[in-house]
Amino acid sequence: MPLALVTGASAGIGFQLARQLAERGYDLVGVGASGRIADLQDRVARVEVLPVQADLSTAQGVDRVWAAVEATGRPLDVACLNAGRSLGGAFLDTDLDDELAMLALNVTGQVRLAKHVVRHMAPRRAGHLLVTTSCSALTPTPYESIYGPTRSFMLSFAEGLREEMAEHGVVVTALLPGATATDFHQTAGMGATKFGSIDWKNDPALVARQGLDALFADQDHVIGGDQATREDAARNRTLSDPVKAAEFARASRPQQD
Ligand SMILES: NC(=O)c1ccc[n+]([C@@H]2O[C@H](COP(=O)([O-])OP(=O)(O)OC[C@H]3O[C@@H](n4cnc5c(N)ncnc54)[C@H](OP(=O)(O)O)[C@@H]3O)[C@@H](O)[C@H]2O)c1
Repeated sequence: MPLALVTGASAGIGFQLARQLAERGYDLVGVGASGRIADLQDRVARVEVLPVQADLSTAQGVDRVWAAVEATGRPLDVACLNAGRSLGGAFLDTDLDDELAMLALNVTGQVRLAKHVVRHMAPRRAGHLLVTTSCSALTPTPYESIYGPTRSFMLSFAEGLREEMAEHGVVVTALLPGATATDFHQTAGMGATKFGSIDWKNDPALVARQGLDALFADQDHVIGGDQATREDAARNRTLSDPVKAAEFARASRPQQD
């Protein structure tokens, strides 16, 4: 059986990535921040699951995850760097330590884990690396003013790494979900925004399938979501940044009572 690593595998898009990789015959190393990752084996039938509870915003957490992968003694065929979170609110008000912790999870931790992954895959001249970023990478993100840049960083990182890794036989693909129906906006404290309350969000199972299909088709990137999401992303490539910023703020700005 081939082996896949999925971070953020306990919920949302990451759980769907894990479930669908299991359906495709991959054993799993699944990572989550809380104890609920322990349930992954029960939720994903027929394959072997190694759950790892680790805080990927810390170097120790990332190293614990990688030690668990190495302890399997098996080559890692697929890695999905997916765990991430946002923090909503006006930058004037948001907590700096919370923002720095988000940067550590969404950027530093991802880079640290990617280093392990590519140094493992390149000598084998085989492997697939899927990086979950966001359609937020394509626009300024007022009232999520640190989150969006973390996704832009990861998109640019993934696309650069893709070019480097091609000569080593390793595929790198970026997944850019649009707004998706997970706990993400609630966790970000964005319940009182249009993003938090909209009921048209994309199905995480669809987003995950599009990501995996793109990865195995060796595509540079894919927009995750329905036709309207793909049209929005295409439109975002044409609008000026100030126009996009004003539009984004209408959905992300906390609403007054
Ligand atoms: N949902 C959206 O609208 C949306 C849109 C665009 C992009 N994305 C991107 O998609 C990715 C997944 O988001 P989602 O919507 O699936 O979120 P989600 O449902 O909130 O799931 C987040 C996952 O990440 C894990 N996690 C959180 N903090 C962690 C930490 N410090 N260390 C290790 N794991 C941690 C959580 O573990 P626990 O369950 O144990 O807390 C959970 O498994 C993120 O990178 C996000 O930027 C989401």
